[in-house]
Amino acid sequence: MSLPYGRVYNFSAGPGAIPVPVLEEARDNMMNYQGCGVGVMEMSHRGKVYTEIAADADKYVRQLMGIPDNYKVLFLHGGASLQFTMLAMNFMNGGQADYVTTGTWGKKAIEAGGLHGIGTAIFDAKATGYDNAPAFGDLNHTPGAKYCHFTMNETIQGVDFLGDPPADRTDWICDMSSCIASREFDVSRYAMIYAGAQKNLGPAGTCLVILREDMLDRVPNGLPPMLDYKVAVENDWMYNTPSTWSVYVCSLVFKHWIDFGGLSAVQKYNEDKAAHIYTAIDGSAGFFKGHAQFNNRSLMNISFTLPDEDVTQKFLSESKAAGFHELKGHRSVGGCRASIYNAFPAEGCVELAKFMGEFAKANG
Ligand SMILES: Cc1ncc(COP(=O)(O)O)c(C=O)c1O
Repeated sequence: MSLPYGRVYNFSAGPGAIPVPVLEEARDNMMNYQGCGVGVMEMSHRGKVYTEIAADADKYVRQLMGIPDNYKVLFLHGGASLQFTMLAMNFMNGGQADYVTTGTWGKKAIEAGGLHGIGTAIFDAKATGYDNAPAFGDLNHTPGAKYCHFTMNETIQGVDFLGDPPADRTDWICDMSSCIASREFDVSRYAMIYAGAQKNLGPAGTCLVILREDMLDRVPNGLPPMLDYKVAVENDWMYNTPSTWSVYVCSLVFKHWIDFGGLSAVQKYNEDKAAHIYTAIDGSAGFFKGHAQFNNRSLMNISFTLPDEDVTQKFLSESKAAGFHELKGHRSVGGCRASIYNAFPAEGCVELAKFMGEFAKANG
């Protein structure tokens, strides 16, 4: 195994891998952006050069994700976690809202959102250890709820809905932090999509928000300006200084995947990558056990366990020595987790699957 710059197979759940050509271009422009004499981190966000970078970020993400014209694109601070609060302040605002809880991040979303109204968990997969997501059609929505929030892909449990919500409701709000741009999505099905950048989009520091315009009519007056979507839109997400470098690198990432063939090509690539690892799990005669139920298996985060703690530790240390890093699972699920975001190379999945097969044979 030989990766450029002595890099390893990085299965980090986030911040995660960034495409090498993007890192190279960012590096080259760090000192002197396209001959303008200063690097991207050192220029005014209101100057001509950065204004063009910001316009490119908007243009490329719209192109990559097929975002309709009646949606605003924002790059905000505070990560996905601040959106838990901000969306509830703007859209629940003392009323009621529904939440579908399929894992750790969905729980955090309702905990934070519930401080700003009545958040009702209309589905909670706690009883089965957060290993599944419901069919959208099975949900019983609360009359009068202002929105229905769900987490498309639960990063820790590796549980994904694997489909867009139906078009018969217009109030879906979705945390896509760990699966954004990993496959095709129909943005028109959502009132709002948001995602922290640091898994599939670029460096930590910015959060992509895609908001249908009519949602702005619901924003109450008097919110703190930094927590008010209307203020963010009116100021082209530059009410204060945005995370200029992070947005710049995200823009390069958007362009990278457009050139790759767009999200249909990315989806095929990710399905093939994940299939290698799931095949290794399924072919291990129960030595490896996937956490998610079959129909909700994430393409991005593959959480699995081994027979006991000793063998898990052995797997982690031997896999690391073989060049597979960051495979330790989250403490709440235990075991291992392979996060294989867009930028994680396909060869790494092939090689990990091979390693898993050999390990199961030697230790089973
Ligand atoms: C699905 C999901 N939502 C929210 C978050 C929180 O993101 P942030 O750290 O950007 O606040 C994470 C982080 O891992 C996540 O995976």
